[in-house]
Amino acid sequence: MRGFRSLKLSLRFVVPLVVALGMLAMAIVPLVDRLTLRWSVRDMDIRSRLITSTLQEPLLELLPQENRQKINKLLLRATQDERLLALGFCNQEQKLIYRSPSFPADISCRSAKDDSQKPLYLISLPQGPVHLSANAIELNGTQIGTLVLVHDMSYMVRRSADTRKYVIILFIVLGVVVSLITVFVAHLSWQGWMDGVRAMLRGEGILKPFAQPVVESELQPLVGDLKALLRSLDAERRLADDSTITWSPDTLRKLLHKQLTGEKIIVVSNREPYIHSKEDGEIKVHRPASGLVTAVEPVMRACSGTWIAHGSGSADRETVDANDRVMVPPNKSEYNLRRIWMSEEEEKGYYYGFANEGLWPLCHIAHVRPLFRTTDWEQYVKINQRFADAVVKEADSYNPVVLVQDYHFALLPGMIRKLLPKATIITFWHIPWPNPESFGICPWREELLKGMLGSTILGFHTPYHCKNFLETVDRYLETRIEHESSTISRRGQLTMVESYPISIQWPPPWLGTLPPIEQTRNEILSELGLPADQLLGIGVDRMDYTKGILERFNAVERMLELHPELVGRFSFIQIAAPSRSALEEYRAFEARLHALEKRINERFSRDGCKAIILKAEHHEPDQVNRYYRAAQVCMVTSLHDGMNLVAKEYVAARDDERGVLVLSQFTGAANELYEALIVNPYHVEQTSEALYQGLTMPEYEQQERMRSMRAQVRDFNVYRWAGRMLLDAVRVRQREKLATRIGRES
Ligand code: G6P
Repeated sequence: MRGFRSLKLSLRFVVPLVVALGMLAMAIVPLVDRLTLRWSVRDMDIRSRLITSTLQEPLLELLPQENRQKINKLLLRATQDERLLALGFCNQEQKLIYRSPSFPADISCRSAKDDSQKPLYLISLPQGPVHLSANAIELNGTQIGTLVLVHDMSYMVRRSADTRKYVIILFIVLGVVVSLITVFVAHLSWQGWMDGVRAMLRGEGILKPFAQPVVESELQPLVGDLKALLRSLDAERRLADDSTITWSPDTLRKLLHKQLTGEKIIVVSNREPYIHSKEDGEIKVHRPASGLVTAVEPVMRACSGTWIAHGSGSADRETVDANDRVMVPPNKSEYNLRRIWMSEEEEKGYYYGFANEGLWPLCHIAHVRPLFRTTDWEQYVKINQRFADAVVKEADSYNPVVLVQDYHFALLPGMIRKLLPKATIITFWHIPWPNPESFGICPWREELLKGMLGSTILGFHTPYHCKNFLETVDRYLETRIEHESSTISRRGQLTMVESYPISIQWPPPWLGTLPPIEQTRNEILSELGLPADQLLGIGVDRMDYTKGILERFNAVERMLELHPELVGRFSFIQIAAPSRSALEEYRAFEARLHALEKRINERFSRDGCKAIILKAEHHEPDQVNRYYRAAQVCMVTSLHDGMNLVAKEYVAARDDERGVLVLSQFTGAANELYEALIVNPYHVEQTSEALYQGLTMPEYEQQERMRSMRAQVRDFNVYRWAGRMLLDAVRVRQREKLATRIGRES
């Protein structure tokens, strides 16, 4: 196809070229004929004069004797020359008195004399064309007659035909050679041009063979314009999408069906959305404490498809079918959960080891040093491959849309790309991305980066994490980075790196079903044995050292020191879901937390009212939601957090437009929820002051702040998060299709 295109193109040059060459040949052939003739006639003239001067002397001797026999013999002998056809002698009276036997009867002395005046003389006789020349024979300066020489010119006809033939052959060869060169050059330049355009569309720049990307190319302006156009169209569409689309499950579904027709969504994460476990001989279903699951589950329910995850529950194997699948949510069956099994040793290396002792602390600046072991890495590679194989099995087309989640699967995009080159792979990194120096301490940094660059779209929560990632790639890999379009190109594979702030479901799933806030608060207070006017603060986290729970407790303690009037009147409830407790670092953290809680409670508990109520156990989402609604202040004090959805969940829970959010400046959420009381959790006084401010904030101010934050969470909900990634994936697909089309048609 590509060859045909350049052939078609070059024919436009070749056809006129061949026509022009043909016309040139037609003009040149008679010219060459005339020239050949002129040279031959001149040649004959010279020969004639030479023969005449040779015969002059014997003729002058024989003519006075009038010895006819001898003179004719002399003439006959002279005509032995191959070209000289005949000789004749005319006297002064123009009478042919002597002649060789072959002298043509059609030639007379008179015509020979007349024509002898002409420099060239050619006549046509029945035996063929002849050259006639008449040269004077003089005796003592007086002409006594004329020697008429008749040369055979038929060789001229042959020579002229030969010349014409060769000229035509020459022009045909010339035409063929020029045409071939034109086709070849046109093909090369078309191919080069198209390669250039394609490369630029992929963000690679124009690559010349054996050379580095060349910026100053003749294609640069054209491709530059093309790219600028694509970019501005993209920007316009993004802007239009942002301002016109109200994101809901329905918009997402429509987007999938219209723009990604027939695509089936495949989500891959380590943590499964529903865990089946056996408790007292009964199978129970739990929703895990995971921001990832909170966000992705509603998206999956809107889109349907398959979610592939580690089957980690004690009753998970009992609840799947023969293909390791189970329909979820329980009793609703909206999508497939495909479980992947792993041995204890595999889980230890891949999940606890490489993911949570290596990558987790590596990406969070929380003063816990990462640990990298080769054995963990090997399990990480092995499990990533197992998930990649499962994706291929679950895919029902050669180009599925796969949503890869988080740091457990940095290698997965590259592995899927190898198995399904046409797949649209959207990878979302739910945790922060560190700067290049910090990331550089990972012994397998290049492998991880290469794996991630198998993605079509690579998403982070904030532009800052994107910037860190681009800089890291720039530092450790040979790639081409286009900052304007935030695209990385590696070996022809384009990856768009963008920030997509994750969010939660809106409207909240419980909308309109819950009792009023006052009622919930009273219930909670009575459950906790607290007085009805007790002020409540809430913190909801996994038991994780990155969450700043120790710092939060320190702030509570400090506030009670600074505002003793609140001692016994305020309780801080901390829900801390057990997490990764097989790891020493996590166990040590839990122990420290319990010790701190104990110490603070010893100082500030009054009349059975604890200052800190630590609930170190799993709570289902609806339970957590009750606490959100009951508490006057929610504290999110992470030391480093990609987004933190607890902050958004608290805002969503407060349909009464009351309550205050204290939010760490080191969370992604702080980029969106400006009306929260933003704090540096390392600064004890600042955090404690914010807590106090929250507890004493006038209602109108609470309302103003909460209303604004709720609008933000409503408009920038999780459907928008997924929708924007899918829309961008559609655009990258279109861009790739355009590049392929250009390729196919060239
Ligand atoms: C973070 C990670 C998630 C993870 C969650 C819970 O939010 O980004 O990928 O699921 O923590 O951790 P866990 O190890 O229990 O899955």
